[in-house]
Amino acid sequence: MNLLFATSGVYPLIKTGGLADVAASLPRALLKLNIDVKIVLPAYASVLAQTEKLDVKTLSTISVLGREILLQQTRLPGTRVKVILVNIPEFSERIGNPYCGPDGSDWPDNHWRFFWFARAIETIAINQAGLDWPVDIVHCNDWQTGLIPALLSEHQTAPACVFTIHNLAYRGLFSHQAFAELNLPESMWHHENLEFYGQMSFMKGGLSYSQKITTVSPSYANEIQTPEFGNGLDGLMRYRQNDLHGILNGIDMEEWNPNADEHLLHKFNRRSLIGKQENKLELQTQLGLDVNAKIPLLGFVGRLVDQKGLDLILAQMSLLLSKNCQLVFLGSGFQHYETALKNIAAQHPHKMAVTIGYNETLAHRIEAACDLFLMPSLFEPCGLNQLYSLRYGSLPIVHAVGGLADTVFECPINQPDNKANGFVFHSATAIELHHAICRALEAYQQPDFWKKLQENAMSRDSSWDKSALEYSQIYLDLMK
Ligand code: ADP
Ligand code: GLC
Repeated sequence: MNLLFATSGVYPLIKTGGLADVAASLPRALLKLNIDVKIVLPAYASVLAQTEKLDVKTLSTISVLGREILLQQTRLPGTRVKVILVNIPEFSERIGNPYCGPDGSDWPDNHWRFFWFARAIETIAINQAGLDWPVDIVHCNDWQTGLIPALLSEHQTAPACVFTIHNLAYRGLFSHQAFAELNLPESMWHHENLEFYGQMSFMKGGLSYSQKITTVSPSYANEIQTPEFGNGLDGLMRYRQNDLHGILNGIDMEEWNPNADEHLLHKFNRRSLIGKQENKLELQTQLGLDVNAKIPLLGFVGRLVDQKGLDLILAQMSLLLSKNCQLVFLGSGFQHYETALKNIAAQHPHKMAVTIGYNETLAHRIEAACDLFLMPSLFEPCGLNQLYSLRYGSLPIVHAVGGLADTVFECPINQPDNKANGFVFHSATAIELHHAICRALEAYQQPDFWKKLQENAMSRDSSWDKSALEYSQIYLDLMK
């Protein structure tokens, strides 16, 4: 089976969030199932800047609507996975974030950029790109790839599309003017196709035209069929419920392995947690916190956006700071969250440390050093950070939504079962979050109970094996 996996990001070449982690690890798991998978990615300037390390070769030049587009190929570093790079100047000559400029607003020509990306993929998918590689299935991811199923629907014979929703909150919305510029068939401007309340939605293209839709957890698959989580697309999700599957994300168990993690100063595992404590002492020292193994350390790593529940965290912060605990934040995003967190940390330098920016090493070190991991997201399609923290024995405190509800479980204090691995609250309020943190801090004082929760957490199998099989079954069904 030849599978073309279309994504706007893949770790370690280019990453803004969890999509890049999934795009790196799922294809590797599919290769193990004997699926010949090739990733197709925009040739961003930052990717091409790594060419010396990467060994990029030219595949072909294709002509799309009179425009010449260069296709190149490299391999995902350290793997056998091939990556086709779609090289157009709108990607290759623009430095910075894939989706937005330095001021945080979207690149004004995003509709064009991801239109050309989709057109190039259309050409590969119908085997007109000179690659001599007939594609059986195109697997699309999020709005950036939403036009691909729409374009392929115009062909008599074309491979089937699977479209994965990683986050329905980003709908890829553009004006009618943008739709007109792209010169797409007029029939696509329809509420059952690309049109969404007077705008064009790339996401809706993926949802309307693909043969199967998946999303990244079973709970999120249910949630997006409701108005509360559907972002206006819940009607369409209900309409397509028979084609919609919730498949839980896995993680790269090698990249995120506390016993072999090269970012860590001290390795550890389920049976020997001394290294975890040493990492905690190192991090406390590095960040200027009071150095004391006994003080519970709470961590947060993530995009500083509404989705991640920062309003809840901030609203109960003064209560939390009155407790005997420490807090470590790493993230970047909305200015008001960055400023608020930095201001609080400045007032409590021995209790709270905030690092603004993107830092892979620090992310690993926080996962390893913390006792508890904060993830009170308002919604969370899957979430990878709680999976990383489980593997690193840092018990997650989560709001019971999406993938968080599917992976983190709580039990009454001192009555452990074989499932309990964290702390869960059910309504998105600051006080509920605070109560969950208090339960966690109480549990921390019960060493045997804590140990059992950590054991449950660290022995969770978060590998891709099971989920990759589910994807392969969907591909096979479509090929019948
Ligand atoms: P989302 O995709 O919504 O951002 P996930 O939990 O699925 O959330 O994935 C987030 C990924 O991005 C994780 O790998 C996390 O470690 C990483 N990440 C987020 N912010 C940062 C940061 N500031 N520095 C390093 N890694 C980060
Ligand atoms: C999105 C979601 C996150 C998910 C990730 C990978 O960015 O916000 O919950 O884990 O995609 O699927």
